[in-house]
Amino acid sequence: MKERILITGGAGFIGSNLAAALLKRPNTDVVIADDFSSGDWRNLIDVDCEVRAVFCDDTQLLQDIANGHFSAIYHEAAITDTTVMDQKLMMNVNTDAFAALLEASAQSGTRVIYASSAGTYGNSPAPNCIGSGEEPENIYGFSKLAMDRIAARWYDKHPSSIIGLRYFNVYGPGEHHKNERDGTKTASMMLQWYQCIQAGNPIKAFEHGEQRRDFVYIGDVIGANLAALESSRSGVCNVGSGKARSYNDIINNLNRTLSIQHPVEFIHNPFPFFQDHTEADLTETSALLHWQPQWSLEQGMDDYIKLLEKGHRGPLETA
Ligand SMILES: NC(=O)c1ccc[n+]([C@@H]2O[C@H](COP(=O)([O-])OP(=O)(O)OC[C@H]3O[C@@H](n4cnc5c(N)ncnc54)[C@H](O)[C@@H]3O)[C@@H](O)[C@H]2O)c1
Repeated sequence: MKERILITGGAGFIGSNLAAALLKRPNTDVVIADDFSSGDWRNLIDVDCEVRAVFCDDTQLLQDIANGHFSAIYHEAAITDTTVMDQKLMMNVNTDAFAALLEASAQSGTRVIYASSAGTYGNSPAPNCIGSGEEPENIYGFSKLAMDRIAARWYDKHPSSIIGLRYFNVYGPGEHHKNERDGTKTASMMLQWYQCIQAGNPIKAFEHGEQRRDFVYIGDVIGANLAALESSRSGVCNVGSGKARSYNDIINNLNRTLSIQHPVEFIHNPFPFFQDHTEADLTETSALLHWQPQWSLEQGMDDYIKLLEKGHRGPLETA
């Protein structure tokens, strides 16, 4: 029988990549529910699926979930701009809507795989392990931690698995829209700085580029999500490369792949909640998903920059 998989937030960076990857599987159809508040229709040009322009807690959508219209649900919809400070808005969109979706999915016993975040760890010491150091520094991180806590309350009574994936810093094709909306630019620094180079502007980095993050290529994020479809139990786990790399490493890789030496200007960091060191501990990831990351920073950036140089802006699987 044909699988019919729902992706909320499917016009976004990760959701559209996931849709394109799922459509490559045999007997799989995809339905996207996205309110187009931050996503981009251009991500879906080569992704042939049903698209509904609705909120992820739309009444009809929840009814369809409760009636078992979907074989699995990927929940990616969220306010993804981490500088949004409106607490009520963030909690309504990210946490309350998820609670409603979980309740509907419990009625039909539909598996839910949802996007959590490394923002749940705030600035607690790395490596970041599930169950410790969950001290978010902003309302975005808290909204994701609140989702994990709601999910955990369902583990025993939900007829199917609920799997939370705490993504670290994801980069790769399909994120252009994050640099094109008004206000804060939220695309990865790989894309932001690539675009500075193209425009002939200096790279601006927060002093002095030695903050370390776990940067994970979209190919690995797709891999973890596909593995979560097979997971035999509920849980939450990290999705990262397992390595902390510096912002200077990104600059060096841009220079290396493009054979240039681009000027860098170091600037003051205005964000008090900035995470200075994240690094995914992958112990629970391999136990829950039986999955390991495949892409190093060098391999991921080589792949991404090749696609950028070709002018590709859609999901990885449509390149
Ligand atoms: N990209 C990362 O590095 C990263 C890291 C950690 C967690 N995440 C999480 O992964 C998920 C996907 O993020 P992304 O990077 O693809 O961001 P994105 O902004 O590109 O995608 C989010 C999508 O959700 C849609 N959306 C927002 N609110 C909605 C609502 N109420 N109803 C329906 N659709 C709605 C937007 O229009 C957009 O298409 C999010 O939950 C985000 O918090 C992303």
